[in-house]
Amino acid sequence: MELKEPFLWGSATAAYQCEGGYREDDKGESIWDVFCHSEKNNINAVTGDVASDHYHRYEEDIRMLKEGGQNAYRFSLAWTRIIPKGTGKISQAGIAFYKRVLAACKKYGVTPLVTIYHYDLPQPLMEIGGWENREVAEAFADYAQVCFEAFGDEVRHWVTINEPDYDTMCAYAVGNYPPNVTDMNRRAKALYHMLLASAKAVSRFRKLQAKGMIGLVHAPYPIATLQDDLAYREAAKNADLFYNRCIADPTITGWFCDDLFVKLKESNIDLSFIKEGDKQCFMEGTVDFLGLNVYERAVVKPYTSGETCLKINNTGKSKDKTSIIVKGWFELDKDSEVKRNPWGMEVYPKCIYDLLYMMKERYGDIPFIITENGIGYYDKLENGQVHDPYRIEYLDGFIDWMWKAKEEGIDVRGYFVWSTMDLYSWINGYEKRYGLVYVDYEDHEKRYPKDSYYWYQKKIDEKEGKEL
Ligand code: BG6
Repeated sequence: MELKEPFLWGSATAAYQCEGGYREDDKGESIWDVFCHSEKNNINAVTGDVASDHYHRYEEDIRMLKEGGQNAYRFSLAWTRIIPKGTGKISQAGIAFYKRVLAACKKYGVTPLVTIYHYDLPQPLMEIGGWENREVAEAFADYAQVCFEAFGDEVRHWVTINEPDYDTMCAYAVGNYPPNVTDMNRRAKALYHMLLASAKAVSRFRKLQAKGMIGLVHAPYPIATLQDDLAYREAAKNADLFYNRCIADPTITGWFCDDLFVKLKESNIDLSFIKEGDKQCFMEGTVDFLGLNVYERAVVKPYTSGETCLKINNTGKSKDKTSIIVKGWFELDKDSEVKRNPWGMEVYPKCIYDLLYMMKERYGDIPFIITENGIGYYDKLENGQVHDPYRIEYLDGFIDWMWKAKEEGIDVRGYFVWSTMDLYSWINGYEKRYGLVYVDYEDHEKRYPKDSYYWYQKKIDEKEGKEL
């Protein structure tokens, strides 16, 4: 990518969370369709069958994005629309839908940033073991190739996979995402295969000599401790391996660091899923840029006792706390000085600056794109307006710190608010809203720009040095 290209100022969505159109055209079922329709979906029990109805209203959503001063849209492709059963027959209707979305981007002068996979594995692939089955990595590379061939003329910014870390943590360690497992051995295997899948997809991209740049989206955490002694430093190092290095090292440098293997062996993680030739595959599949989803810090303390146990606040109720204990590694701590949203998420904007510096010091000059940043709240619609000063305060701080890092020389190429409009929150349902645009879920035709939507437009102008 040319350095002169305009900075990408946008917002983001993901297919399952906003499209709806659940059985429209040839779409097959994903693990999220099945999970949401099952008894396991018992916390905030809603589905993405209609969601924000983006499947029918994408043009309006992209138009509103553009009218809000944004020049880029990050969205994901549903594997089950393009290859309904995960492997085999390709759906022309699915391809045609995303061609229409890309045409709308073009019409409004919006740069698309396309995520090939954002949590919604085709159900038939779960039936053969999901990401624990190595064959799924190859199936993903085949699917990615179909995408490069179908959309390669219109897309210059590709992402293989969204958040392999957070996805597998929820699916195999917390147990709140399908397949609802709590087993660190199974988590390690699924995560490894997801990273392998991404590397294989990048290799296909290179072989096809596809245009543009390709990356992976990671959700790293700047690690903090409330004390500074040997034990706390050790906990911080372990949390860094757990949250950060296990993804960014193989994705950027082509292999995992030795310290990670030491910790995994200490925890009796069975590493027999690593096969001969894999390292070569990772080396050939390193990315052009890293997408960073930045929400908050991880404040950690030394591990004390007890079994590994990860819980996430899925309700927004104070009785339901996020708590993380990784046996022999670290525990989650709490900084009571820092403001939080009802889900317990920290509002600590400087963390984006600290994170960018940490990544730059570790990985050198790789470009970064902030692919998600935002805050969920119970927004209220009153007389056609949504006043969300808490969101403005949060985003304002993050954008200022991100911009400062960029001006100091870190290669940040874009920034995307999560999310473009209100959409389904995995497990949290529809009460927790992140959008710049409010969606009336009773009458999808009604979409109301929030105060933050107008504010974001001004903020972009301010950063671009335009007269206000
Ligand atoms: C990111 C995901 O991790 O967090 C998004 O990529 C998700 O898909 C966002 O919606 C917010 O998460 P939650 O659980 O607060 O809705």
